[in-house]
Amino acid sequence: MDQITFHHDTVLSDVHLLLPNTRHLMTRLNNVGQPVFISKFKILSDAERRDNCDGVRGLKETEKYEDKGTEEDKCLGDKQREDTDKDGEGGVEPLLDEDGDLDVTHRPKRDLGEISRESVCPVILHQSESVLGDDEEVDEDEKNSKDAIKIEHTMATPLEDVGKQVWRGAFLLADFILSEPDTFSGATVLELGAGTGVTSIVMSTLAKTVYCTDVGVDLLSMCERNVSLNRHLMEPTGGDVKVRQLDWLQHDLCTDADEEFSWTEEEVADMFDNTRFIIAADVCYDDELTDGLFRTLYKLCSSFNRTCTVYISIEKRMNFTLRHLDVSCEAYDHFRHCLSQLQDLQDGCCSFTVTQLQTDFSQFLLYERIEHLELWKVTSVPLHHHPPQTESKPG
Ligand SMILES: C[S@@+](CC[C@H](N)C(=O)[O-])C[C@H]1O[C@@H](n2cnc3c(N)ncnc32)[C@H](O)[C@@H]1O
Repeated sequence: MDQITFHHDTVLSDVHLLLPNTRHLMTRLNNVGQPVFISKFKILSDAERRDNCDGVRGLKETEKYEDKGTEEDKCLGDKQREDTDKDGEGGVEPLLDEDGDLDVTHRPKRDLGEISRESVCPVILHQSESVLGDDEEVDEDEKNSKDAIKIEHTMATPLEDVGKQVWRGAFLLADFILSEPDTFSGATVLELGAGTGVTSIVMSTLAKTVYCTDVGVDLLSMCERNVSLNRHLMEPTGGDVKVRQLDWLQHDLCTDADEEFSWTEEEVADMFDNTRFIIAADVCYDDELTDGLFRTLYKLCSSFNRTCTVYISIEKRMNFTLRHLDVSCEAYDHFRHCLSQLQDLQDGCCSFTVTQLQTDFSQFLLYERIEHLELWKVTSVPLHHHPPQTESKPG
């Protein structure tokens, strides 16, 4: 396959759109025939972050991403340098026309202020199964590479498959986690709407157990594969990620052992007894789903016997709507409305406090931390101790 056509009813995350000048490496087709790509996201060391002064904001866009492409791309880069030399920059004889005048060859114009967006030219590396096979063991070099997260994802999906892409909100939340190691160290954490699993993977480098949840066997298989690809990152702390189904529109957690990504009774009990943090990145883009998410948050937090802190990242996406004949952000407005409702709730069971956090913490991952990227904190405090429940709790 040489060219992929993106249809008008699909969405593409800026994280993938802005990967500059690299080939997109298509590793396989997933079970539903979607092309799966692989990206490596670099985690900056202290020194690299210091070099970049105030985080990545000082970096040029073209320097922002880790995935520098294949050997073939590097050769292409060398080839391009050779071509540049021929253009007269490398001590090569100047070109003269027949009258002896200097013949200046102009380089194609390039707007340096803009990120170069090239058409996607996928290269199929190999066809593989959706679970990591024995012959696909993560190689030793990669195992030793502790500074990059390798994520398989699709691109330009229809709305119902947005979880198969990585979104900027996942990186914002991951940055926050990495900037607060003491807070999350050894904790039990639940992620809602985890998508490719990148934030859970980052969390697992600090936490004890991360329940990484979403819906759909297809998506959860991709997520599980990503967890396997990055297991070596969790080894130093012994953290673990469990990929499980948790649907905000369902009442119960699935404990049917015949179902993939179902929960064991022990996991349900552990999650309800020990979760100290719930995290969710870029999960509010459809009002009905946002209502489901907030119902789930309420039910979970009010079943906990301990204080739980919820972190939600959101990107305020402005749209022109015919309804308002103006630019608005309805999904964001609905999110804010749900937050207010939660804070005002007086059910005698638990109290919720909502605050917006500053997003000036260090940047460990390379992405554009735009002004419209926000992080919210909700703290739920139980007002009474209630006995632990043993049946499957509502999702
Ligand atoms: C925009 S994606 C964000 C994915 C990931 N957190 C990230 O930021 O890269 C929204 C996620 O919400 C999940 N989601 C949508 N409806 C859901 C539901 N009813 N229950 C659980 N998760 C849901 C999607 O599957 C998707 O993974």
